[in-house]
Amino acid sequence: MKVGFVQNNPLFGSITNNLARMASVLAEQSADLFVLPELFTTGYQFLDREEACRLAEPIPDGLTTQTLVSLARNINTTIVAGIAEREGDAVYNSALMVGPKGYLGKYQKAHLFDSEKKIFAPGTTPLEVFDTGIARVGIMICFDWRFPETARTLALKGADIIAHPANLVLEHCPEAMITRCLENRVFIVTADRVGIEERIEGQPLKFIGQSQVVTPDGDILYRASVDQEEFKVLEIDLHQARDKRINSLNHLFEDRREDLYRIE
Ligand code: ACM
Repeated sequence: MKVGFVQNNPLFGSITNNLARMASVLAEQSADLFVLPELFTTGYQFLDREEACRLAEPIPDGLTTQTLVSLARNINTTIVAGIAEREGDAVYNSALMVGPKGYLGKYQKAHLFDSEKKIFAPGTTPLEVFDTGIARVGIMICFDWRFPETARTLALKGADIIAHPANLVLEHCPEAMITRCLENRVFIVTADRVGIEERIEGQPLKFIGQSQVVTPDGDILYRASVDQEEFKVLEIDLHQARDKRINSLNHLFEDRREDLYRIE
């Protein structure tokens, strides 16, 4: 199957512009799964919760989800994309999934990074694996990478691919994803952004780019630049993720010693 990502540099708060630019990039591409960055329509550094609430959208009834539903139908693909979500009075850092047949589901970021704790509510959705008809796809968002339980849970639930919308500021993530892939024999598609935001004086955030696709054997199929917008589509073989054997005597899941992992 073919997987792709888009690495963008959104203009803060310009939802319709950022969405239209993304849609025009995707409309020219062909892949079975596209992953877009975290908060790709709004940008990242909200001044406060009220601002995030104003820019957040309901899922699936908001403009972004509905636009991506049409796009996924038109170009026959599945899209995972990060946006600010308004659900009742709460604002979540969420990702939605849409496919050729419509809306598939959403995930609300579980592990909030730094000042995100002042803006977003921690996610309440389960770590879920969605069947796109071609692949089983789990979602984690950016800083979720720092908690190995996230990728592990998705892998144990049957994910072949972890779609990883991100706005990375910590330098170790791209290398750490090699370990997550080896630990779980899954593909990870990280879609990051580039650029700098300093909406809060004295608190500049530099996003590190390096969106990438890593295989279950820990190979980096492609890593994007640190500072350019780009997109990439790559061919992957899902059988690699479905075979959890490490060698003739070791099996990644069957060799787990759950009896020793319990903390009592
Ligand atoms: C992050 O979780 N966006 C750093």
